[in-house]
Amino acid sequence: MQNGFPPPGTKELNVGVVGCGVMGRGIMQIAALAGAMVYMVDSREGAAQAAHEALLSTFDTLAGKGKLAAEDAAAAGKRLVACNSLEDLRPCHVVVEAIVEDLAAKKSLFGTLEGIVDAGAILASNTSSLSVTAIAAGLQHPERVAGFHFFNPVPLMRIVEVIGGFLTQPAVTDYLLALGRQWGHTAVLAKDTPGFIVNHAGRGYGTEGLRLLAEGVCSVPVLDAILRDTAGFRLGPCELLDLTGLDVSHPVMESIYHQYYEEPRFRPQVLTRQMLAAGALGRKAGHGFYRYGADGKKEATDEPQQQHGPLPSSVWLSQERPELAERIAVLVTAAGVQIESGARPGDHALCIVTPLGEDATTCCVREGLDAARTVAVESLLDLSRRRVLMTTPGTSAETLAMACAVFGATGVPVSVIRDSAGLVTQRVVAHIVNIACEIAQQQIADPQDIDRAVVLGLGYPIGPLAWGDQLGPATVLAILKNLEQQTGDTRYRPSPWLQRRALLGLPLYHKEI
Ligand code: NAI
Repeated sequence: MQNGFPPPGTKELNVGVVGCGVMGRGIMQIAALAGAMVYMVDSREGAAQAAHEALLSTFDTLAGKGKLAAEDAAAAGKRLVACNSLEDLRPCHVVVEAIVEDLAAKKSLFGTLEGIVDAGAILASNTSSLSVTAIAAGLQHPERVAGFHFFNPVPLMRIVEVIGGFLTQPAVTDYLLALGRQWGHTAVLAKDTPGFIVNHAGRGYGTEGLRLLAEGVCSVPVLDAILRDTAGFRLGPCELLDLTGLDVSHPVMESIYHQYYEEPRFRPQVLTRQMLAAGALGRKAGHGFYRYGADGKKEATDEPQQQHGPLPSSVWLSQERPELAERIAVLVTAAGVQIESGARPGDHALCIVTPLGEDATTCCVREGLDAARTVAVESLLDLSRRRVLMTTPGTSAETLAMACAVFGATGVPVSVIRDSAGLVTQRVVAHIVNIACEIAQQQIADPQDIDRAVVLGLGYPIGPLAWGDQLGPATVLAILKNLEQQTGDTRYRPSPWLQRRALLGLPLYHKEI
């Protein structure tokens, strides 16, 4: 326990929250509901009082909806103290700042607080992008400063990253981890590195989606639909960027990229900079990747309807990867089409290849197939909601129409993309897994915490390391190696952490001694 503080959850614990904006109010809400006395301060006249009234009204509403007992709502309301100055934070054991995201302002606030609170009190910052070490630098007691990074909206996003700076005492981060948990959140420990866990792990999805657009692989609605339906993301990358707003997301993409000294894995794309310049920020501007009506609802965009031709007389399926061919064979059989068993395709067969990190052209040429009759198909992850076909530059329109008829025979939508190393889904997911492996390699957080933080903070269907285990580390490694080889881009170089586990046949969740 930090210097004999009251344990989290006891009513003697005094928590100060500086900054009564959206984040400060959320933190005040969960702290008061969990039993702490909460002292609220803001430099803006009347802001603490306004937060006090708003929180009392929130507690009433929660009680009215039956989400909170009336007596608990009343008791939580009594634990809120609107203060007029920082001096009023003297009795606080922990002060959490949620003021403007500005290093000088945060340093100056903590400097002032050092002259007010006890020497052992914890000073915690809700910063999402500044270095905790830099905030603590120059203070009398930098060892009591830590990051306590909540997500918006705080009461609903039940994850908090606790960040130890270079000089932070472990007792301080231990206390905040316990406090975060007592406040009802999953608390994870992270090293003081750009983006901590969530905003670091989250760099893969958007940037890889944008790269696919930049390469002209498919249109915006096709990209989003593929990633929703085959990987299980709630929103496609473009829908997500529109929701967050490019005024927020594009600078974050650039900042993390530069903070990691131009790490190619995080490289942003020109497209979003152009859109930002054009004011196409997303939902808040009425237009971004999509257009939005006055009610804020996305206007319908029709995915291009693929022409379904006649079914082919037979399908020849590449056996380079029998486990993938088997998954595709089930779909072909369901369409009532015969699968050829010969090593070479018959004269009229539709030829299907199942690339891993490669493009359709490479597979086609290696197997000596006729490009006009060849189509690649995504064979990883969920094939039940959407099928993804990829043409070579030489694929004929008749071949594509036949392939659409085969894979759309049971009524499942079919998306068609242009040739690309690793199609869409396997490429995006492998990139996300690789970044998570690097986070583990750099010991920014432990594997379970990386996954917990990503699922709760980003809403991914599964943690990236568990995803890697589901696909198999060797499969992810094969995708990345081929992507790197085909594109010549070190963006896809596999993390050594992944390579070792794949080579040894160990799961990514394997605990090292
Ligand atoms: P906000 O603008 O809604 O609220 C900030 C509040 O701090 C305002 O009421 C302002 O008057 C007050 N303030 C500014 N400077 C002050 C000072 N020197 N002393 C006392 N009060 C001061 O901002 P928001 O969104 O609540 O963000 C606060 C912090 O939380 C920032 O560091 C931000 O990066 C971080 N954060 C924000 C998230 C978000 O989604 N909004 C998510 C995670 C972290």
